[in-house]
Amino acid sequence: MRSRTTSTTSPSKAKLTPLVPGKEDPNRPLVELTHVEKHFGALHVLKDINLTVAKGEVLVVVGPSGSGKSTMCRTINRLETIDSGDIRIDGKPLPQEGKELANLRAEVGMVFQSFNLFANKTILENVTLALIKVRHMDKKEAEQLAMDLLARVGVDSQASKMPSQLSGGQQQRVAIARALAMRPKVMLFDEPTSALDPEMVNEVLDVMVELAHEGMTMICVTHEMGFARKAADRIVFMADGQILEENTPDEFFEHPQTDRAKDFLSKILTH
Ligand SMILES: Nc1ncnc2c1ncn2[C@@H]1O[C@H](COP(=O)(O)OP(=O)(O)OP(=O)(O)O)[C@@H](O)[C@H]1O
Ligand SMILES: [Mg+2]
Repeated sequence: MRSRTTSTTSPSKAKLTPLVPGKEDPNRPLVELTHVEKHFGALHVLKDINLTVAKGEVLVVVGPSGSGKSTMCRTINRLETIDSGDIRIDGKPLPQEGKELANLRAEVGMVFQSFNLFANKTILENVTLALIKVRHMDKKEAEQLAMDLLARVGVDSQASKMPSQLSGGQQQRVAIARALAMRPKVMLFDEPTSALDPEMVNEVLDVMVELAHEGMTMICVTHEMGFARKAADRIVFMADGQILEENTPDEFFEHPQTDRAKDFLSKILTH
């Protein structure tokens, strides 16, 4: 939120959009991948990936297992390096290391399949930890913000518990609150519901839908096609390390263009 040149600086306006930094500059893509290539040894996992995600856009990434969906997500906050090509967040190339990289990670929230909460810390501490250590926020202030976010995802009553005392769905909502606490510009979700019991899937998807409606920029790898139809602005279909299709949900589901996408949809939709 550095060089904001907006003249609408009334406190009430600032309060209304706290989770969506950067939203008011709609023209520049927030995430931009250009000619991205990645190998794991001999395995060519990302092949000439070109992708832009606009501010406030919800992109859903689907495709068969091993097609490179997770790897692509992980390159965006530089959990994986790339061999060549260019990745930019809000116009800036990804930093290589150090403080800049830590800042980038704070701008790009990520929620994985496994919940990754700190097992020996309370729910509240899980959310306040980075606020205090990385953002140097006062403890009281951090706790207030954390409680607000926990309330948004419906688990504020669990604040003093340990992660193991929560259901998977609750833990995953805490993980989302923890990522949101850093005020990310974009949220990456990598199959956030696939480790959950079926009855807990919707409580997490509901939080994601709400976030989408609030205008958060989101990249979501998911097999939840109901969510994709409801929340996605655009679907990207990957196979064998390539983006084979990019379309609106209606077009993608009703009129898949490639045999790979038709095959994928016939398998996933008949389950
Ligand atoms: N760290 C790694 N070292 C070597 N190979 C890897 C590594 N991570 C992923 N791969 C391989 O890269 C390919 C793409 O993996 P990736 O996890 O990105 O696929 P995916 O589309 O997310 O699959 P899934 O739907 O099963 O999660 C796979 O063949 C995988 O085995
Ligand atoms: Mg994956």
